[in-house]
Parts: sequence; structure tokens; C-alpha cells
Amino acid sequence: MLLENKEILVTGCAGFIGAALVKKLLNFNVNVTGIDNLNTYYSKNLKLARLEQIKKNRKFTKGNFNFFQFSLEDWESLRKICFEIDFDIVIHLAAQAGVRYSLKNPESYINSNLVAFGNILDLCKNQDIKNFIFASSSSVYGNNKQIPFNEKDNVDYPISLYAATKKSNELMAHAYSHLYQIPTTGLRFFTVYGPWGRPDMAPMIFTKAILEKRVIKIFNKGNMSRDFTYIDDVVEGICRCCLKPAVKDNQISDFSSKAPYKIFNIGNGKPVNLMRFIEILENSLGIESKKEYLGMQQGDVVDTWANTTNLKDWIGYAPTTSLEKGINNFVNWYKNYYSL
Ligand SMILES: NC(=O)c1ccc[n+]([C@@H]2O[C@H](COP(=O)([O-])OP(=O)(O)OC[C@H]3O[C@@H](n4cnc5c(N)ncnc54)[C@H](O)[C@@H]3O)[C@@H](O)[C@H]2O)c1
Repeated sequence: MLLENKEILVTGCAGFIGAALVKKLLNFNVNVTGIDNLNTYYSKNLKLARLEQIKKNRKFTKGNFNFFQFSLEDWESLRKICFEIDFDIVIHLAAQAGVRYSLKNPESYINSNLVAFGNILDLCKNQDIKNFIFASSSSVYGNNKQIPFNEKDNVDYPISLYAATKKSNELMAHAYSHLYQIPTTGLRFFTVYGPWGRPDMAPMIFTKAILEKRVIKIFNKGNMSRDFTYIDDVVEGICRCCLKPAVKDNQISDFSSKAPYKIFNIGNGKPVNLMRFIEILENSLGIESKKEYLGMQQGDVVDTWANTTNLKDWIGYAPTTSLEKGINNFVNWYKNYYSL
């Protein structure tokens, strides 16, 4: 396995995707350094519990894990770590996530998604990183009408600040990849769900409300769809990208990029209507929900659907988890975690 003995930096390692990724990476003989500021955008206890899980799991795995708590805007703290460790791979997942929250607290998006991103790029430049992977988002497609979304579609019209910061990340990363020849892969995640998921996302919000017999709020009167992507499929995709740094595209393309830079959708490729998603969740919980139908929320997009052909061709990415199975796994974890 080519990951053996690699020094890997994972930012956002106490987050939903980051913690699941670290757990998987530690199956290999690697040194993983994790950074997270453990901010309170959602339950800090959940983030600590994810770190605890990583620790528990480590007894059975080969890799080493070191955790550092600080904000990536803090360049001095980042620099100190770089003096001590030469990283081979940087996987940057830390960000202020969430579309709706970007209307309430724009500042945290500027700090975590732009200032911190700039620091990570400087780290990649200074350390001559051989594989830089970062999290983008399906939200960059905004209200594009042509579905499924393709990486070559125009993404110039974000409809939330969150999406605008993710699109900015893609542009900033391309500039660094071009200037300093940093092999860079940006992954546009599509509604990732599963055990240890985020409390601000629909699976968790709906599950909590249904179990507490509260009404669930259904936006755009249910007329929405999402390309729900199971956490294990996403983690598998990221690991495969760890093994295959981006290279320059030698074929003549409609992009004029000469950088070792790739952007991929990482979704399930099978969008599900919101009402069907709720039905699957109700079946798994064995409870019918009480519903309140509302209008569209500002900043939200109506549909997401990933064309994943490019990632399939690049690393053989092929998600395997059905929504029924993924939701069941999520519900089982939820009941166990909250001792219900
Ligand atoms: N989960 C999804 O469906 C989804 C979809 C699209 C894109 N993404 C992107 O994927 C990445 C991971 O998402 P997630 O769902 O795991 O989110 P998450 O919020 O669970 O994880 C992000 C982690 O980063 C940390 N963090 C945030 N700002 C930081 C900073 N400035 N310095 C240090 N740590 C900081 C947080 O404490 C958190 O633990 C994010 O970049 C997110 O925007 C996720």
C-alpha cells in the first residue's frame, strides 16, 4: 500500500467527515496529524466524542495520531507544527460549513473558509506538498438548471456566502497549484450523511424531531431533491485520491489550465426527493412524522445531482451504499449514541 509511512495532515479532524477519514487512514501504517479548533457551531461534545472514538479505535490499528487544537487562522501555531513535521499529504476539511448559517454569521465564513484557507495554501507551498486535497461543495452549482451537475458547468453564480467561499477556495487553490506546482484535488461533496453526522443537517434534525414527536419543517413544500452520499463512500473516495495526486491535463481541454489541478464531484449520482427521504427515515424509525410545509429558504438550492463519471474514470470511485441502508446505519448509531 502506497500510504505506508506517509505523514498526513487532516484539518477538521473532529468534524463529521474528518473523523471518519482519520479512522480509516489509521488502518495503515501512517502518521496522521489532526488539527481542529473544536468550535461550538454545533455540539462540542459530539466533536470530542468523535476524537474519543479515534483514540479507542487506535488500539486496533497501525497508524499514529496526534491532535492539535487551534484555529487555522492562527498562522504561528500552524508554522510551529510545520517546523516539526514534513507532510506528504494535506487533506483540508476544516471549514465553517452550512448554507443557512452563512446568512447569520458571515464573519466566521470569511475567517475559516478564506483566511484559514490562505494559510493552508502557504503551508503547502512552504512544505512542497506532493498531494493537496481540499473540500469544496455541491453548493457552488447554485441554481444551475442543467442536471446532473458536471464539473465543467459554469459555477460563477453562487447564491450563498458559503458557496462563494467554496468557489473562492477552488480559485485560490488553482493559483497556488499553477504558481508552485502543487498537485491539488478539490472535491465537491454532495450532502454527506451517516453515523456521527452533523446536527445541523436534515437527517439529524428530522430524526431528533420525529423521536421527540415534534413537527418537522419541510421547505419548498417538499419540492426539493438531494444527492445523499454515504460517509463510507466519501471516505473511500478521499483515500483513493490520497494515492493519486493530481497531474497536469495534457489533453487539450476547454480549460486553459496548465496546473496539476483537478476538481471532482463526489456524490452518489442518484438524487432523492425530500419526501421520499423522509419516508425512508420514517420507515427506519417506525414512526410517522408530523409535517409543516413551508416556502423556500434563502440561500438554499432546489436540487443537487452529481455526475461522478470523472471521479470514476480517475480513481474508480463507485459509491455502493443505498439510502435505505445508510439511513438504517445512521438511525442505529443515533439511538445508540443518545442512549435511546
Ligand atoms: N457534510 C457535507 O454534506 C458537506 C457537503 C459539502 C461540503 N462539505 C465540506 O466538507 C468539509 C467537512 O465537512 P463536515 O461535514 O465534516 O463539517 P464539520 O463542521 O463536521 O467539520 C469541520 C470541522 O472543522 C473545524 N473547523 C472549522 N473552522 C476551523 C478553523 N478555522 N480552524 C480549525 N478548525 C476549524 C470544526 O470545528 C469542525 O470540527 C467542510 O469543508 C465542508 O464545508 C461538507
